[in-house]
Amino acid sequence: MCGIVGYIGESQAAPILLDGLAKLEYRGYDSAGIAVYDGEDIRVQKAGGRLKVLSELTHDGATMPGQSGIGHTRWATHGAPSDTNAHPHFNAAGTIAVVHNGIIENYLKLRNYLKGKGYAFVSETDTEVVAHLLDYYDKGDPIEAITKVMHRVEGSYALGILFKEHPGEIYAVRKDSPLIVGHGKDGSLIASDVPAVLRYTRNVYFIQNEEIAVLTKGEIAFYNVYGEPVEKEPTAIDWDINAAEKGGYEHFMLKEMYEQPKTVRDTLSPRVKDGGIVIEELGMTDEEIRAIRKIHIVACGSAYHVGVTGKYVFEGMARIPVEVDLASEFRYRDPILEQDELVVVISQSGETADSLAALREAKKRGVRTLGIVNVVGSSIAREADQVMYTWAGPEIAVATTKAYSAQLIAEYLLSIKFAQARGTVTEKEVAAYLKDLKRLPEQIEMLLGNKERIQHFANRYIAAKDVFFVGRGVDYAISMEGSLKLKEISYIHSEAYAAGELKHGTISLIEEGTLVAAVATQEELYKKTISNIVELSSRGAFVLAVTNDGNTEIEKAADYVIYIPQTNRYFTNSLAIIPLQLFSYYVAVGKGCDVDKPRNLAKSVTVE
Ligand code: AGP
Repeated sequence: MCGIVGYIGESQAAPILLDGLAKLEYRGYDSAGIAVYDGEDIRVQKAGGRLKVLSELTHDGATMPGQSGIGHTRWATHGAPSDTNAHPHFNAAGTIAVVHNGIIENYLKLRNYLKGKGYAFVSETDTEVVAHLLDYYDKGDPIEAITKVMHRVEGSYALGILFKEHPGEIYAVRKDSPLIVGHGKDGSLIASDVPAVLRYTRNVYFIQNEEIAVLTKGEIAFYNVYGEPVEKEPTAIDWDINAAEKGGYEHFMLKEMYEQPKTVRDTLSPRVKDGGIVIEELGMTDEEIRAIRKIHIVACGSAYHVGVTGKYVFEGMARIPVEVDLASEFRYRDPILEQDELVVVISQSGETADSLAALREAKKRGVRTLGIVNVVGSSIAREADQVMYTWAGPEIAVATTKAYSAQLIAEYLLSIKFAQARGTVTEKEVAAYLKDLKRLPEQIEMLLGNKERIQHFANRYIAAKDVFFVGRGVDYAISMEGSLKLKEISYIHSEAYAAGELKHGTISLIEEGTLVAAVATQEELYKKTISNIVELSSRGAFVLAVTNDGNTEIEKAADYVIYIPQTNRYFTNSLAIIPLQLFSYYVAVGKGCDVDKPRNLAKSVTVE
């Protein structure tokens, strides 16, 4: 995610801004910028790439004198990484500077509105809309202008704002994106996260949703969205710096698991409009979608598992044939591709060598390609004919969690869009799908709340030698992901099997006490999976079942049951994965493994 910092006080602002942004580098970014009020004007310096470039350009801030300023590290969501798209963004007169973390969901509508009022835009970002909208409402009272903007803007935002006409103040606003205020002995600060302020103060105010903070050299005042004063108490932070980068979580992986509700919401909300699906960046008309006769989904690792889920969802909803391939196989098997087919490449990093090679292989054969990618401006995002972004923000832990969940959401949205275009679903069915999708974040939140129970269960399997995951349909796909999560961070041998396949060999491996996780979320297959569980138990397996609320029948067969809330049968992977992620995480922690950086693994496999 983007990083925001701001400072106003007795010291020079620029060095403090650069230092604060450096403490937020772990959030991932592709460009940076700072704006400082120099006593007359707001000066700005931006730079693509690492923060070092910006520090060198400003001689560690020395070329930008002034005692108040804002800074930003940008993780691109709208508009590729570039100096122009880097923050801060300004109004035309250069009298208002804005840094932003989040997604302005209605930015296109506001952009067109402002263009109609004569405003011109220089960047591709959603953020620039905020700078011009503040200008539009600025009648001399920043709070009034800010509250009017808050009533017009939809989406998530943490904003740092400088008004040239109000040089002794910095303004901060937040809705859904994180932002804190620090009050130090020689000045006040704003930041996206605690690490950026710890060097200057441990006295922190957490801005609540739709609150405004006004910082001066000595004071901090808070207001609500109606411009009314709000009283707030500071919190003393006792974290050390390292813990703070993880938001107080022990590992980035756990932090990112807990970011999944927000990731799902961020990937979903901007695309559900007026009862339908709008994927602005997709660039495919309904007619072009209808002309697609077959889909090939190509990926690696967890992204491949998303593809396996996609086969069931696309074929189920849109009645379009889907073939799923490991990218490393697809690229060398001389695939049979026809012109009226679509190759979908799924990749968090957008740089996985096998997936990029598979994309190029498809393009060489003249087949339309679509990338489902998390990193804006990555190779796969740039080279695919079409792209659909997962707005998961940067994922630091090698084992994917929130990006995986965002990829599932992207796939569901695409399936619904394809089904609507091909007329294979009714509007009533679509309305039901959207209703269930919107409930996923709160349901994920609820499942994450079970962590103590799962940690207790996981501790029993720290010494396990083999763990098997089985399921049918999408439950088979989630078994693959559950198995990979366990393998890659705890180093315990694990395999995933289609539940119906066990008796064709694998069941010979089951011994007394062997743990088998049986995922059973598909109502029409419950009985089949229960009979598989009985086969396993009768050979000594200890069966952990993951199933839907209400399916208590399974308790007669399984030894331990984890229930997930009711949702549409196509979407159960998004819920079943949560206990499986927690289980793997706590087994790995119990074994003392390096959870965020497992041995032999890289976050992005950019080699063959
Ligand atoms: C998943 O936990 C792994 N880190 C790995 O399987 C990963 O999903 C795979 O390497 C694909 O990476 P990508 O999504 O960046 O292409």
